[in-house]
Amino acid sequence: MEEETLLLNPGPVVLHQSIRDALSRPMISHRSAAFSELYDRVQGGVREIYTNSRHDGEPSPWDGEVLFMNATATLGMDAGVANFTDHDSRVLSLINGNFGRRFAQIADRQCTVDEYEIPWGESYDVDAVRDEIIDGEYDLVTAVHTETSTGMTNPIGEIGAAVAETDGLFVVDGVSSIGGERIHPHEWNIDVSIVDAQKAMAASPGVCAMFLSQRSIDRLDADQTYFYADLHRHIERASNQSQTPFTSAVSLFYALEAGVKRITDMGVDTWLSGHEQRAKAWEAAATAWGLELFANPAGSSDYASTVTAIELPESVRAEPEPFFDSLREQNVFVGGGHAHLSGEIFRLGTMGNLDAERMTTGLEAIGQAFAACEVDMDISAANDAVESILAE
Ligand SMILES: Cc1ncc(COP(=O)(O)O)c(C=O)c1O
Repeated sequence: MEEETLLLNPGPVVLHQSIRDALSRPMISHRSAAFSELYDRVQGGVREIYTNSRHDGEPSPWDGEVLFMNATATLGMDAGVANFTDHDSRVLSLINGNFGRRFAQIADRQCTVDEYEIPWGESYDVDAVRDEIIDGEYDLVTAVHTETSTGMTNPIGEIGAAVAETDGLFVVDGVSSIGGERIHPHEWNIDVSIVDAQKAMAASPGVCAMFLSQRSIDRLDADQTYFYADLHRHIERASNQSQTPFTSAVSLFYALEAGVKRITDMGVDTWLSGHEQRAKAWEAAATAWGLELFANPAGSSDYASTVTAIELPESVRAEPEPFFDSLREQNVFVGGGHAHLSGEIFRLGTMGNLDAERMTTGLEAIGQAFAACEVDMDISAANDAVESILAE
């Protein structure tokens, strides 16, 4: 059997056997009753996860639509902007990491964008952001909940409260948050959000889900968007036939069904707590290695539960290749830094089928990679710290 690559990067993730089995199921027609039933099951499961992820464990009264795209999340982000804007629209993009920047790049293709950028990994001053949102009278505001590039969550509730005081729509990248972080979709006034199957849903890449509030559905304008990502078309086909308008990635739906079923069988709260515990374990490992976490959360920003970004030691930053080469040689993948953070940080995910055994194997591999860079780390202290947190 092919050796499993140990994926410690924040997506795509190690797949549970039930998901691998789902990927090899016989093909069915995307226009069959069997597919419509599959669609309903996946849609119901994804909705259950989205509406049951609040901090207090109570269900959110969110009553929007869940749609699927045959693509990774960037198409969902694209659709989340293109369906609600035209060339005269004004968008505010909040940026404190790579994916906040991506939203701005997307919006820049369709309309006029004001970029509100602070140093990556820093927390927004919510009063200043609020003033910008209220004064700017934007048609749409984009923000990222879990900024995967920095390992930090942003204050979506406070930003959403400000957007709700305007006529604008609030579009949120929930790609590495939904299914792994606490989220309050209705209470935070989120109009559109996007999640990828390959992150905290623990399935395989190639399909993403979009969550549309009723307010956003009322604003859809079919004339102003491009053909494939026309959300009107998606809603019509979904509500009339439980199908996608174009050929569905059937095997990926089966995989997502298996991923979602694992979560709902286990209970959403238990699933989320697992991510929180694994993040605490990586944070403890960083402390035991004598390393700093990259992000600087303040206020209601926090370290992410789905990804931990750790600063590399100074000597490794000077020459990072041997560190990443050593991991690759051991068939272990960790996330590197994006853009100007390349060679400065490494990122460890907590998503997918990541159990204590895989985390321990990962710690040993990272220890060896540091040794390859002649950095002396207390490997057993990191192991002990992780073990004691995972045992709680
Ligand atoms: C927060 C966030 N947004 C968007 C994306 C985009 O996903 P993709 O490049 O797979 O389309 C990612 C992928 O890692 C992400 O982490």
